[in-house]
Amino acid sequence: MSHPQSPGFAHNGSIVLVGLMGAGKTSVGRRLAKRLEMPFCDADEEIVKAAGCSIEDIFEVYGEEAFRDGERKVIMRLIEGPPMVLATGGGAFIDDTVRHKIQENSISIWLRVSLETLIIRTEHRGGRPLLKDKDVRATLKSLMEIRDPIYATADITIDAVGETPDETAEDIIKELDNFVKRKSHRKSP
Ligand code: S3P
Repeated sequence: MSHPQSPGFAHNGSIVLVGLMGAGKTSVGRRLAKRLEMPFCDADEEIVKAAGCSIEDIFEVYGEEAFRDGERKVIMRLIEGPPMVLATGGGAFIDDTVRHKIQENSISIWLRVSLETLIIRTEHRGGRPLLKDKDVRATLKSLMEIRDPIYATADITIDAVGETPDETAEDIIKELDNFVKRKSHRKSP
């Protein structure tokens, strides 16, 4: 059962984690969902389920545009469903339609992580077609330059450098509480 302090409970929408590959959206999201007693969903996993093949295969066989179409459909469906903590793939929030949908009734959280941390983390987990056979540092750096100004439009920014996923989830809960309070304050006459 959600406790009254639960921001998910207070705002009745989903909490959506955004940020680059390796930012920790999935590992932090799982812990956050547990703490808030909300369901957790990983958008990439849902896309894989819907397509019946891996993200790498979707990119290779059908191309990035087809992946983005699938991603858009899956996230729109998830956002329209019951409130949850949703970890999105790094490109999802960059899509205008997806971002506007998220901004309608969810609280978006940008997990901002340094380039060095992203490089280390992405080395540990493959399956990311945008980094495959690429200069990982140069690719992530250029993605940061393009995407960071868009991630920065999220409701909350969390600097998750050098912290465990549990500590980051804890920071998010504090910020969510402040955010929900500020928002209800603004609404009151
Ligand atoms: C992508 C990020 C990936 C995945 C796909 C494309 C991106 O998700 O959706 O490979 O465009 O940044 P993660 O951010 O979970 O790695």
